[in-house]
Amino acid sequence: MTPVQAAPDLRVNLGGIAMKNPVMVASGTFGYGPEYADLVDLNQLGAMVVKGIHLEPTRGNETPRTFETASGLLNAIGLPNPGFDGFVKTYMPFLRQYDVPVIVNIWGRTVDEYAEVARRFNDVDGVHGLEINVSCPNIKEGSALFGTDLDMFRRVVDAVRARTRLPVIPKLAPNVGDIRAFACAAEACGANAISLINSFPALAIDAETRRPELANVTGGLSGPAIKPIALKLVWEAARAVSIPVVGIGGIFNATDAIEFLIAGADAVAIGTANFTHPGTAMETVRGIAEYLDRHGLARVGDLVGTLAA
Ligand code: SIN
Repeated sequence: MTPVQAAPDLRVNLGGIAMKNPVMVASGTFGYGPEYADLVDLNQLGAMVVKGIHLEPTRGNETPRTFETASGLLNAIGLPNPGFDGFVKTYMPFLRQYDVPVIVNIWGRTVDEYAEVARRFNDVDGVHGLEINVSCPNIKEGSALFGTDLDMFRRVVDAVRARTRLPVIPKLAPNVGDIRAFACAAEACGANAISLINSFPALAIDAETRRPELANVTGGLSGPAIKPIALKLVWEAARAVSIPVVGIGGIFNATDAIEFLIAGADAVAIGTANFTHPGTAMETVRGIAEYLDRHGLARVGDLVGTLAA
């Protein structure tokens, strides 16, 4: 009799966050959960990262805020959010119904704002981790500067780490000289994991009107166009640190996700694909399991960092 092969073990421990599988949904592409609940079985996600939360409600940028480019999406949304109180009151009762780790992406305009929003989440039931948004290219004060200046980056991660009991995951910007310096700084400041990359600063122009396509002029490019850049940065960062890495950037199917795992990511987050095909995360989970099975790998961890280079 042929022995029955056990299903591959997809579980991942992301710096203290226990996930059923390595497939998360990226901040800013999945709202706060209810927006996708009729389309996706949220319980099947590895984790959900919600859109960036600030201390106070904010409106975001003027429209147009998005523009489709060749193989990519340019956005300058500007981090609109319901504020800490609005998020906790409106969305946490909904999110607590699900058996999925909730990671809250947090942002501030100053180091103190980051620290304060992190501190407030200590008392919120059902939040499993904080992703520190130091890489949004679309707001005038804070975020992008904190993600591209190593000293400012350390100050933010240190301050958040000092104020929270939750696992912290700085989300790295791609437009830095040496990603390894930021990855190592995150680890040295006590981050439990890192996620990368955020969108790449970019510009689209309407040649007829000679105007930018976005009201904010510049935006962040995401989608398949940035996948090779993301893979290279994940590969470099993962070799520089021993904390877990979340790979993000143009993942549209299981093969894309598998490439990130091979590059050294312990988990992946689906971003832009959620807008066109909300089932991508579910299909990616199934595709990873099928790949592990086909390659005789018992655990998803057996694939991580196996690039033959
Ligand atoms: C935005 O809201 O502008 C995008 C969020 C981000 O890039 O972090």
